[in-house]
Amino acid sequence: MKKITDNIFYCGVEHHDRRLFDQLVPLPCGTTYNSYLVKGSEKTALIDTVYPEKAEELINKLKEAGINKIDYIICNHGEQDHSGSLNEILELYPAATVVTNAKCKEFIMEMLHVDESKFKVITDQETLSLGNVTLQFLISPWVHWPDTMFTYVIEDKALFTTDFLGAHYPTSEKNIDKSGDKELTEAAKRYYAEIMMPFRTFCAKYVKKIRDLNVKYLLPSHGPYYSNPDFILDTYEEWTSDTPKNLVVIPYVSMYGSTELLVDYLKQSLEEKGVEVKLFDLVKSDVGELAMELVDAATIVVGTSMVLAGPHPSAINGAYLINALRPKAKYFSVVGSYGWGGNMENKLAEILGNLKVEKLNSVIIKGKPTNDDFIKVDELAEKIAEKHKSL
Ligand code: FEO
Repeated sequence: MKKITDNIFYCGVEHHDRRLFDQLVPLPCGTTYNSYLVKGSEKTALIDTVYPEKAEELINKLKEAGINKIDYIICNHGEQDHSGSLNEILELYPAATVVTNAKCKEFIMEMLHVDESKFKVITDQETLSLGNVTLQFLISPWVHWPDTMFTYVIEDKALFTTDFLGAHYPTSEKNIDKSGDKELTEAAKRYYAEIMMPFRTFCAKYVKKIRDLNVKYLLPSHGPYYSNPDFILDTYEEWTSDTPKNLVVIPYVSMYGSTELLVDYLKQSLEEKGVEVKLFDLVKSDVGELAMELVDAATIVVGTSMVLAGPHPSAINGAYLINALRPKAKYFSVVGSYGWGGNMENKLAEILGNLKVEKLNSVIIKGKPTNDDFIKVDELAEKIAEKHKSL
């Protein structure tokens, strides 16, 4: 086990070859499930467990380190990538008490059928002494479930933040602290975009709360821990701010090339006006890359062909995902082409109902774009560029 402080040790496991999380989120380089051991002079606590199929690896680490007694298993979050080995750990350490909040207890009992007698339920700010080390529990819901909480080791100024501030970024134990790494920043941004962005206001609130604690260590449950908390807190402050960047994201799908001609022309026209543009072909793109750009985009333009009198199903799917991610974009438009008729614009606006966006004029054309159609695209680009000047 890697020593982090005199009292805290890393005992998590890596999952290099996992390529999909929740059957939805792509993992380009796998992930880790971080479990930590806090050893006090009198008691020992395990902070979270690991993904069920990795239980044996965690157990082997604990056995190899000669850990013959665990008094408390702290569950900061009930999702099974952290709680899923709980029954195996309880089998190995039957005297251990599961310490968590009421909501997390409810989830764990429902999902893992852990007996109620095993739990100690704590409330916000409550403390638990391990002897020379004190744990304090900070109930912090909605990053990203209603049960999430943080655990603070007061003497070490170390905060276990469960999924919050994590990254799907595997590291060996020898190289687990990568504060300041550019590759890690990208992984953390992808993770934020896919998992935390729908809870942006909670994220901003907790970043401020953590700043006020003046912690020395941030120890999330995925990816590296941070001994330079400013590195990840600074980036989160930027990502969670209300101010988007001068960026237009255009997710699109084109059946016979007409919609693609429109979005390519829009991209060129916007770039000539000093606006950055990112195009995503919804049939081929990695949704994580799309989500990452949505963190900063001021405008979203959905490009779609018409299928059976409505938007193409790939555009509907993309819009549904964007709506669920709740990006901070301020403007929205639709460009697209149809053959005989229907309504794409209203359907997409309806799907994007969570977004607080001003709807700009759309460019919906019949067939292949004409010069008049391209003039309309130029007008849309002009309008977007003008709006972006006041960001
Ligand atoms: Fe890493 Fe919400 O579980």
